[in-house]
Amino acid sequence: MRAGPSRPTFTSAAASGSFLFRVWPGAQARRRRWYQGNGAIDEGGYRMIRLGVVGLGFIGGRHVATIDRCEGVALVALVEPDGQRRLALARDGVVTFASVEDMLSEADLDGVVIATPSHLHAAPTVACLEAGLHVLVEKPIATTIEDADRIVEAARLHQRHVLVGYNRRHSDVVAKAKDLIGRSLGDLAAVNGQWTVRKPGGYFEQDWRRNRAAGPIMINLTHEVDLLRHFCGDVESVSAVGTNRVRRFDKEDVVAVTLRFRAGVLGTFLLSDSLLSPWSWELATGESDEFRATWQNCYRFMGTEGSLEFPNLVLWRSSAPDPSWMHPIEAEQISTRRADAFLTQIAHFRDVIVGQSPPLATAWDGRETLRTTLAVQESTLSEKTVRL
Ligand SMILES: NC(=O)c1ccc[n+]([C@@H]2O[C@H](COP(=O)([O-])OP(=O)(O)OC[C@H]3O[C@@H](n4cnc5c(N)ncnc54)[C@H](O)[C@@H]3O)[C@@H](O)[C@H]2O)c1
Repeated sequence: MRAGPSRPTFTSAAASGSFLFRVWPGAQARRRRWYQGNGAIDEGGYRMIRLGVVGLGFIGGRHVATIDRCEGVALVALVEPDGQRRLALARDGVVTFASVEDMLSEADLDGVVIATPSHLHAAPTVACLEAGLHVLVEKPIATTIEDADRIVEAARLHQRHVLVGYNRRHSDVVAKAKDLIGRSLGDLAAVNGQWTVRKPGGYFEQDWRRNRAAGPIMINLTHEVDLLRHFCGDVESVSAVGTNRVRRFDKEDVVAVTLRFRAGVLGTFLLSDSLLSPWSWELATGESDEFRATWQNCYRFMGTEGSLEFPNLVLWRSSAPDPSWMHPIEAEQISTRRADAFLTQIAHFRDVIVGQSPPLATAWDGRETLRTTLAVQESTLSEKTVRL
């Protein structure tokens, strides 16, 4: 695994304040006015942010529905090579295209959501950045470091933002957990987590979902690595073992990972897309209607002065002067606000485009998360510890 270039820094025109759009108005009354006029793009000097979606499969369809519910953004273009899928989402006011090139030559856009299969993220993302558009690219940013570097470099060169689609980052529990881990656990030293679900057989009908680029390491562990890096910092080394003995596709079924973080934290993680269990982020949070929530925690963070169950946010602490397992440990349920993280993510993308916020998950974050995820994959194949 090569180390690659260092984290780039740049300030886009939008981020530096000289942005193309007028500052996002805070007044609620003003916001409501945009929605009178049946989706008008311009209203009182303020523009709706014009978005396109590329790739209209499972998550692309969700982005389309989410954009429709988000204030201040308008869906104006869709790209999908599959004619039937394109037709299914076609409607007045939204132009459909068979290719990104056609969209870029004809549509007037501010930002684009890329929701193509993971190994096809780089080309449309780079083309959109080159055309001067900001991009929300689905996770993982790419499936190779070379492709991730092309995206990082294009964003730097064209001074445009990339937001990687780690939707969990936009949820309240993540912000609260980050605060609690930093404040209430003493010296954070260990974490364990798991994401063990059984995906339905139909999910694997498309060929690309049976190969390694679409296995649970690349498709699902990437979310966990992003969260683990968000909470515990960069990873120094990983070792992992995996098997494909359940479904016998080219991709892995069950994986056990150990991680050493640069900050000294040690972690373990269990991953599977083939086992029936109640323990995963989606089942713990009920983030999507299509997954039946169990509300069971799937992570534990442990420090010298306390522990945190996550994402349900149960904080375990002791009031004893020299706390140990000889004293009571009290559980405190921390309250959170429930919100649709996909909707918050699109609203955040809008704010990134108008220069009101830097991206929560940058192209560089996506690249580093990919590098860690690839190290896990490499370790399952070599059965050796991989240093990053
Ligand atoms: N954030 C999340 O929680 C989440 C959830 C699911 C999937 N994803 C990610 O979203 C991406 C897509 O996954 P999916 O499950 O929606 O896949 P999918 O196969 O259901 O959809 C992909 C779509 O892209 C289209 N496509 C292929 N090549 C294209 C091209 N060159 N230009 C435009 N469209 C093209 C396909 O025809 C298909 O309709 C993957 O990277 C995946 O990891 C993210």
